[in-house]
Amino acid sequence: MTIRRFTAAALILIFATLLTGCNAKPTGEQDTGAIVVGFSQLGSESAWRIGNTASMEAAAKAYGYGLMLDNANQKQEKQISAIRSFIAYQVDVIVFSPIVEKGWDNVLTEAKNAGIPVILTDRMIDTADESLYTAYIGADFLLEGRQAGEYLIKKADTLGKAHMNVVEISGTLNSTPMRERQQGFMQAIAGDPRFTLLESISGDFLRSRGGECMRYLLDKYGAEGIDVIYSHNDAMTLGALDVLDAAGAKPGSDDLIIISVDGEQAAIDALKEGRVNCIVECTPDLGESVMKLVEALSKGEAVPKSVHPEETVFTDFDDLADLPPRGY
Ligand code: AHR
Repeated sequence: MTIRRFTAAALILIFATLLTGCNAKPTGEQDTGAIVVGFSQLGSESAWRIGNTASMEAAAKAYGYGLMLDNANQKQEKQISAIRSFIAYQVDVIVFSPIVEKGWDNVLTEAKNAGIPVILTDRMIDTADESLYTAYIGADFLLEGRQAGEYLIKKADTLGKAHMNVVEISGTLNSTPMRERQQGFMQAIAGDPRFTLLESISGDFLRSRGGECMRYLLDKYGAEGIDVIYSHNDAMTLGALDVLDAAGAKPGSDDLIIISVDGEQAAIDALKEGRVNCIVECTPDLGESVMKLVEALSKGEAVPKSVHPEETVFTDFDDLADLPPRGY
């Protein structure tokens, strides 16, 4: 890769001035000749996302890279226009977290034609042409879904349950974590006659929507009609807990199992309080791995096509007393 020796300070300043409509925010080192990374973040829908942005900013700073950060506020078209701006400014590497899987081929072909490598982070794209991105760094969402299902099987075994009605509050439709967390969960419990999926409804990874979904599900099935809530992230789980509390339900009890994904501090606290039963970890701390790849690319080194961070599962079977603060 040719590192474009623009004056990073000038480049980032111009970008910030011209793209204020895209919430462009210049950060990082601004030395002449520094590597410049264009990062299109999909939004700020959850504590996870805010932690992920902070991780990218901290890592870019530590590596001495200029970071052009654009927050697309949950809009794919804003991500596409941010990527076009990164191409126009000839950044060295484009990093982006695609809000949904489809619809990226045109803009990524433009990046490829401009000779700018693209690193996908957090979420994947659906494309027939894998040459449109250089590498992917993010969670194994299918595994996360399976781990959620495996926990449920263990819990049902432990409680000796003959039958459990499950509702799912899913993430953003057509996004990788939504699709694969659902698929992995269903794979894990498939063929086990104890589980009936009553309904799956999307809460868009938002706390407010998680609450709305819960209200709808409670109205439809009643707390006594639901045995398990599988929520695709902590933000929605926390919204659902608010509604369950207000309704006098007993989340986290043997009769209302709560399974979540992420591991933000507020949800871990709820797990320790016995109001959540299981949290499958999804780490937002991807910045260091991303910048390591940028560094390798800048040296012309080969990089792996796909990297998954190590993650764990926190459950009510574990002693979490010594768990360090989560940091987000
Ligand atoms: O893509 C990762 C998911 O996006 C996280 O689980 C969720 O909290 C975020 O909004």
